[in-house]
Amino acid sequence: MKTKLSVTLGRLKLKNPVIAASGTFGYAEEFKDFLDLKKLGAIVTKTLTLKPRQGNPAPRTCETPAGMLNSIGLENPGLEIFIKSKLPFLKRTGVPIIMSIASEEEPEEFLELVARINLIKEAAAIELNISCPNVRGKDNLISQDAEATYKIIQEVRKITDKVLITKLSPNVTSISAIAKSAAEAGSDALALINTLGGMSIDIENRRPKVAAGIAGLSGPAIRPVAVKMTWEVFNAVKLPIIGMGGIMDTASALEFMIAGATAVGIGTANFIHPGVGAEIAAGLKNYLLKNKISDINKLIGSLEI
Ligand SMILES: Cc1cc2nc3c(=O)[nH]c(=O)nc-3n(C[C@H](O)[C@H](O)[C@H](O)COP(=O)(O)O)c2cc1C
Repeated sequence: MKTKLSVTLGRLKLKNPVIAASGTFGYAEEFKDFLDLKKLGAIVTKTLTLKPRQGNPAPRTCETPAGMLNSIGLENPGLEIFIKSKLPFLKRTGVPIIMSIASEEEPEEFLELVARINLIKEAAAIELNISCPNVRGKDNLISQDAEATYKIIQEVRKITDKVLITKLSPNVTSISAIAKSAAEAGSDALALINTLGGMSIDIENRRPKVAAGIAGLSGPAIRPVAVKMTWEVFNAVKLPIIGMGGIMDTASALEFMIAGATAVGIGTANFIHPGVGAEIAAGLKNYLLKNKISDINKLIGSLEI
C-alpha cells in the first residue's frame, strides 16, 4: 500500500511532518552522528538575534518530574556568524531550514533580520519567536498581547514573501485569541507551544535550581496542555499548526496530529534520544500502514469528541 507522509505549511512542502524544534537541535551539525538528518521533514534553527547573545548565567537547566526547566536566555552567535559558520552545513543537509528569530527591539530588529533572511535562498521559512520567556528584562512577551502580536506580524509580512510561522506562548489566558490575531495579520502557520513558566527550588540553599529563577518547563509534563491548546487553536483558526510539547515518540506525535497539528516539533526528546526524530518519521509511516490510512493529512484534526 502506498502512503503519503508529505504535508504543507502554507507554501512550504515537507516530505514528512517531523520537525526538529528550535533551541533543542543546535544548528543540526551537533546531531549528524546520531541520525540521518535527511529523514527529518524540516529543521528549525536555535533562535537567532541580530547581535550575538551570551545568554543567562548558569545553571541554566534542571530536571523536573517528567520534564525539564531551562532558561538559556537566547544564547546565539548572531545572524552574521550563523550565516558564515552554521548555514553552510545546514544547506548541505538538503532539509528545509526554518530560521527562528527574536528581537530585543521591535519592530526594528525583526525587520532587519527579515530583510537579511530574504536574501538567503535556502531559508525555507521564518519562525517569529515572540514567545521566548527567557530574555532578561522582559516582563511581557509579544505573544501575550493580541494587538502586539498583530502589529509585529503585519510589519514583517509587508517586507517578506517567505513562509511566516509564528511561535506562540502557552502562558496566556486564551491562546486562540492570540492565534486569531496572528492569522489576521498574515502569518502562514503557527508553532505551539513554547515552554510553560515554571520554577524549581533547591531546599538546601533555598535558591532556585535555575539561576534566572523563573524558567521554561518542557517535556512530557506539558504534553496534555499542549495537546489541548493544539485542539483549541485548530478549532479557532484555519492556519496549519506545528504542534509540540513533550513529544517523545510516535504515539505522542500522533496525539498532536489527531488534535489538529499539520506537523510536529520535537524538542526535549532530542536531549534524551538524539535520533528520535527519524524514528518518529518512520513510526508515522508504520501507523498509516497498520491502520490502512493512505494519507497522513486524513489524520489532521480527526479527533472525535
Ligand atoms: C533547552 C531549550 C532551549 C530552547 N530554546 C528555544 C529557542 O531558542 N527558541 C524557541 O522558539 N524555542 C525554544 N525552546 C522551546 C522548544 O522549541 C519547544 O517549544 C518547547 O520546549 C516544547 O517542546 P518540548 O516539550 O518537546 O521540548 C527551547 C526549549 C528547550 C528545552
